[in-house]
Amino acid sequence: MVGVKTLRLAVEAGNPESRASRRAIAQAAEILRAGGTVAFPTETVYGLGANALDAEAVEKIFAAKERPSWDPLIVHIGERAMLETVAAEVNNETQRLMDKFWPGPLTLLLPKHERLPETVTAGLKKVGVRMPAHPVAHALLRAAGVPVAAPSANRFGRISPTTANDVAEDLEGRIDAIVDGGETTHGVESTVVEAGAEGCVIYRPGVITREQVGEVCNGEVVLREHMGKGRAREAAPAPGMGERHYAPQARLVLVEGEGAAQRVAFENAARRAEEQGERVGLMLPDGFPTARVESAAQIFHWGRWEKPEELAGKLYAGLRWLDKAGAMVIVCPLPAAEGIGLAIRDRLQKAAGRE
Ligand code: TXA
Ligand code: MG
Repeated sequence: MVGVKTLRLAVEAGNPESRASRRAIAQAAEILRAGGTVAFPTETVYGLGANALDAEAVEKIFAAKERPSWDPLIVHIGERAMLETVAAEVNNETQRLMDKFWPGPLTLLLPKHERLPETVTAGLKKVGVRMPAHPVAHALLRAAGVPVAAPSANRFGRISPTTANDVAEDLEGRIDAIVDGGETTHGVESTVVEAGAEGCVIYRPGVITREQVGEVCNGEVVLREHMGKGRAREAAPAPGMGERHYAPQARLVLVEGEGAAQRVAFENAARRAEEQGERVGLMLPDGFPTARVESAAQIFHWGRWEKPEELAGKLYAGLRWLDKAGAMVIVCPLPAAEGIGLAIRDRLQKAAGRE
């Protein structure tokens, strides 16, 4: 696996129809059809794709990422007609969510088509499917003409990539190509939802908010942990491993609360970390105090606290940047559990190994 030559294919995200872009997309599509692996931008994060109907190709994703086989992959489609090769049926509630949010950052769980290899769903009877809205992803999926299984294009457990360089850091030499379409739009992953007559279950909060799902869903919307989680512990190679996801190398200290109390708690946490003599990194929202923190702290300017979309967009970039800056502990405030804040909290808590 290691030692593969990884092609870099540049596409202008703003102009996927240009000649150079079309050539790059055609080349990437050809690699996918031939059973290879291609990383590509979506509106959420970069994905690492392979033909979902080709079990051997799908195996290459698990190998490149060092992903355990119990963790199911999301299948990406470029048009509704492709759903027929992936899912056995679509209930009315799921249909309504598709009509409202596709193309877009919503993954829907559907009964798996028998033709779809078991490796894609890790043996589960349901498959997660989404139709990305990103122009490059959309063009690539249509050009490939096959459904594409694609997890985030990072090594297992690590921070999800929002640029082609992030992908290269984790996967250069392990995959066939990276389509470089610039920075992704939202910066955190899609929402994973199962919809039925009794209501909707969110398995992973994401860009499409719980509130938005609630507007379309009949009945209750409940949050539930992904069912693979229990198995994560058993399958972990050593105690304590397999617990952290989306994780920087540094230890994460998360600060709860709201308003002035949270700001004070943040400053105190930062100071305490400094006093322990550790190299400190701060995920610092605009307007949070730092007056009593030593200037030795590495500071990432996260964005406006009152604009959680902005925080989501820079979350992974910030964690990566602080890791590179040599931070041993990262202090980060938790946004409120509403809107896209729910997804930010989920990723940070998993990154801290708290769930
Ligand atoms: O935004 C996204 O969803 C990105 C882009 C590339 O599309 N993809 C992504 O994939 O985040 P990945 O593999 O990093 O996360 C997929 C997660 C699984 O770990 C699991 O939590 C959930 O989606 N999932 C996928 N298929 C599932 C299934 N059949 N049942 C339950 N959960 C599933
Ligand atoms: Mg992932």
